[in-house]
Amino acid sequence: MPNRLIMRLSVQDVRAETPDVIVLSFSHPRRPELPAWSAGAHVDVHLPDGSVRQYSLCGDPQDRSIYTIAVKREPDGRGGSLWLHETAAAGLEIPVSAPRNHFSFHPESGRHVLVAGGIGITPLAPMAKRLVAEGQRFVLHYCAKSRSKAPFFAELEALCGSRLRPWFSEEGTRFDPLSALTGETGSELYVCGPQGLIASIEEAASKLDWPNGKFHMERFTALANDTFVPEPFKVVIASSGKELDVPEERTLLSVLRENGFALHSSCETGTCGSCECGYREGDVLHRDVVLTPDKQKSRLMPCVSRGKGTLVLDL
Ligand code: FES
Repeated sequence: MPNRLIMRLSVQDVRAETPDVIVLSFSHPRRPELPAWSAGAHVDVHLPDGSVRQYSLCGDPQDRSIYTIAVKREPDGRGGSLWLHETAAAGLEIPVSAPRNHFSFHPESGRHVLVAGGIGITPLAPMAKRLVAEGQRFVLHYCAKSRSKAPFFAELEALCGSRLRPWFSEEGTRFDPLSALTGETGSELYVCGPQGLIASIEEAASKLDWPNGKFHMERFTALANDTFVPEPFKVVIASSGKELDVPEERTLLSVLRENGFALHSSCETGTCGSCECGYREGDVLHRDVVLTPDKQKSRLMPCVSRGKGTLVLDL
């Protein structure tokens, strides 16, 4: 798999959107146009310590001159958001990847239900803007602690009008997934937010028999590993017939790399989609949060996913 294009982009502007969210825009120092993207896409931001963070693009896909991301300060996170909050300033150059999109958006479909939790609004805001522009039927449920802590709220309120349903826990309104989704089964459902919100919507969608292909979500965090016990398995490389053992303490990605397969990776937690590869046969224990159930039938993320017995990889 070819490596993802990485560009040194200049920070064009940094502004405070809420007390703990900054909005950064990037441009290319020499080229007027950046690679195209569509609503739901994210970029990898490469930090000086070698780590990589994924951020959804939240600007206008028609404006190819800049990428815009929003970064929430996470004092208990891994340090990436704090570095950006404390260091990012106009003129700073930061390596940023070309966009990738695992959050499929189907603007042509009938009705749409968008549910955002806090900073999870970032991939959904460009979707809402496009639905407005195309005159599509939709509702955007926006859950946050308060109006002042909800990024882009004023802009979305002006844009969406009564199609925006705010739920602010500190202001006494709480989102109830079951009542919000009742009567909407069959609409395209898009969800992005913290794990608790996603889990509650999965539960409601299951009660309402929501069709699998119409439920699209983006998670910020990897699956919990508390109860998962990795076991050894084998892979066969389809192009050569070579067999490789993956011991319980190693990832498939590391074994493949050791054997000459230069797979790209970024998060190594199953959340970014960079290391995706195909397989032809075998039982895969999917541990990513990126691939849809349909895609999981032929693709896997070797940084976290494993096999049962033997897998035949499309390499
Ligand atoms: S490296 Fe991000 S999903 Fe594998």
